[in-house]
Amino acid sequence: MKAVVYAGPRAVEVREVPDPSIEAPTDAIIRISTTNICGSDLHMYEGRTNVAPGTVLGHENMGIVQEVGSGIDRIRVGDRVSVPFNIGCGTCRNCTEGWTSFCLRTNPTPGVDGAAYGYSDMGPYAGGQAEFLRVPFADFNLLRLPPGNEHENDFTMLSDIFPTGWHGTELAGLRPGDRVAVFGAGPVGLMAAHSATIRGASQVFVVDREQDRLDLANKVGATPVDFSKGDAVGQIMDATHGRGVDCGVEAVGYQAQNRGGEEHPEIVMDSLVDVVRSTGGIGVVGVYRDADPGAGTPGAREGRIGFRFGRMFAKGQRVGTGQCPVMRYNRHLRDLIVSGHATPSFVVSHELPIGEAARGYRNFADREHGWTKVLLKP
Ligand SMILES: NC(=O)c1ccc[n+]([C@@H]2O[C@H](COP(=O)([O-])OP(=O)(O)OC[C@H]3O[C@@H](n4cnc5c(N)ncnc54)[C@H](O)[C@@H]3O)[C@@H](O)[C@H]2O)c1
Ligand SMILES: [Zn+2]
Ligand SMILES: [Zn+2]
Repeated sequence: MKAVVYAGPRAVEVREVPDPSIEAPTDAIIRISTTNICGSDLHMYEGRTNVAPGTVLGHENMGIVQEVGSGIDRIRVGDRVSVPFNIGCGTCRNCTEGWTSFCLRTNPTPGVDGAAYGYSDMGPYAGGQAEFLRVPFADFNLLRLPPGNEHENDFTMLSDIFPTGWHGTELAGLRPGDRVAVFGAGPVGLMAAHSATIRGASQVFVVDREQDRLDLANKVGATPVDFSKGDAVGQIMDATHGRGVDCGVEAVGYQAQNRGGEEHPEIVMDSLVDVVRSTGGIGVVGVYRDADPGAGTPGAREGRIGFRFGRMFAKGQRVGTGQCPVMRYNRHLRDLIVSGHATPSFVVSHELPIGEAARGYRNFADREHGWTKVLLKP
């Protein structure tokens, strides 16, 4: 089959690789209909992880069940399914408590709980930017979708970014009527803004400097804040009569930049601590890595992020972090799509055949105008 493989920093290639096969009775094979490029893939693409060249990328997958193992009795061949990016076993302590993103059994990497497809340190699982994907513990992990082609570009957001954006608002403790600040208007930040609106926020600020992304935030009812035009915290303080917001979402991650374009991994946390009111919550879904050998300072290379923890303590804020446990939310979000209350496809800018993956990666990574979310259609 054809698959997108990591070939080195800023290089992905479409290569012929062996088709996946059933390896355990609880596996299923999915024929991929849509697979997305994620901001998380960019950390690998930009050479900021230890992912091995030759790895098949892709953790945002959906498609049709092609084959099931002998131990599968819920999912059927022909089912249309969304594949959560987390691979849960369904039986460990974290999975049974709803934290499939921290499954204790599926990732053999020492010191790392939680597995995913096609991702550095997340276990030996091939990704789905390919024609077929092997899904372990398929009865547990797969989410059934209504048959047909309807809502394809909405449902494809259920494998990761829609639940992740929602999780950001959940970790932030968002309540109806809250004002919220979302940092980052990439696909994840835009999903957090969409989620906050659905959950009844009274005002949603979205901070970025990419005009096309801020325009999309505006389109879904959020207030765009362009940090290239002035300090984001100051702009939000001015717009709220100095009160700030009730809670905040971090949707940027460790490659956050300052206005001058220099990388400052602490800068968004500093801003959130300043702009969120005392006792408010901060949900961090942007990725921060345990170690980051490519970082600019010795501390950051060890994953030490020197943000204003003292001010956060003084304000009595709460913070929640981590990979999103997709299964906590994906059924509900699917039903919001079906009922017309959610339309996460508004972020989609490009649908490409898999052979054009390299172009998709390059333009998305370079934040070329209009490249907000790229779907690959094998
Ligand atoms: N926790 C999870 O489960 C999970 C899941 C998916 C993605 N992620 C992570 O979420 C983050 C965002 O993903 P994405 O797909 O939206 O990525 P993206 O790279 O497309 O978006 C990041 C955005 O942040 C903006 N940005 C940079 N510095 C900023 C600053 N100082 N203030 C405000 N905005 C700034 C960029 O201009 C860009 O638009 C990434 O770190 C990704 O790895 C986490
Ligand atoms: Zn993703
Ligand atoms: Zn588990």
